[in-house]
Amino acid sequence: MKKVLIKGKGICKSFSGVQVLDHVDIDIFEGDFTVIMGASGAGKSTLLYALSGMDDITGGDVEFKEKKISNLQENKMAQLRAEEFGFVFQQTHLVSNLTLLENVAVAGYACRTKNIKNVRERAVQILSQMHVNRAKERLPHQVSGGEAQRAAIARAVINHPALIFADEPTGALNKANSEEVLELMTELNRNGQSILMVTHDIRSAVHGNRILYLEDGKILEELDLNVYGEDDRKTRETKVSDWLSSLRW
Ligand SMILES: Nc1ncnc2c1ncn2[C@@H]1O[C@H](COP(=O)(O)OP(=O)(O)OP(=O)(O)O)[C@@H](O)[C@H]1O
Ligand SMILES: [Mg+2]
Repeated sequence: MKKVLIKGKGICKSFSGVQVLDHVDIDIFEGDFTVIMGASGAGKSTLLYALSGMDDITGGDVEFKEKKISNLQENKMAQLRAEEFGFVFQQTHLVSNLTLLENVAVAGYACRTKNIKNVRERAVQILSQMHVNRAKERLPHQVSGGEAQRAAIARAVINHPALIFADEPTGALNKANSEEVLELMTELNRNGQSILMVTHDIRSAVHGNRILYLEDGKILEELDLNVYGEDDRKTRETKVSDWLSSLRW
């Protein structure tokens, strides 16, 4: 049995009276590469923010490793996010006057309880794992979009997070860079990293082993797949696109 990392129970979220999440029950399991799909405006990002404590919810509960986190004080929540969660967005949100290496290292220094030893060396090592060796001493505006996003992934993993939240991580990248970023995420997952990714792109979604479909603020269906790489890519894409068609995607 897989362990539940994050449990959402009856999550509701409204913005000025408009309900965006409608009693969502969701379990995110350890070791999974979970993908959330759904049309634009379905509430995917809102759900990701709710589960990661980046935004408060208007109803229900969120638990992380069986502890309720939806009522944590903001400073406690920020600490939990810094130490247990990693984030990757469409934009890298790298600090513009720090080099890629410094950007990654700063996240390591921000983690108090895990006592990451030799932060700088670890940052160098992860950046090299992410194929950003040559660009690591440069500022974000001096590197390519793909390099910047790979540095953002390095920053997300430096503290050995329990879960990486990724919201359209390839949304701003061209096809080749997208594929490389997804391959890196898949490799991290193969090495045990749990990932929760939001996307509306089938080519990205096939990297997951579990796809949830969100519609009108509810989880409508779920598709379970083999681990990526165990089956033929074309077959996998067809399976996902047939499934999406059956949901009138
Ligand atoms: N801060 C906010 N204030 C008011 N409405 C919001 C806010 N954030 C999101 N919404 C609304 O909530 C709904 C869901 O938004 P959300 O960003 O979660 O969608 P999404 O599924 O991530 O879409 P996309 O694929 O376009 O990113 C949308 O109708 C959006 O306009
Ligand atoms: Mg979104």
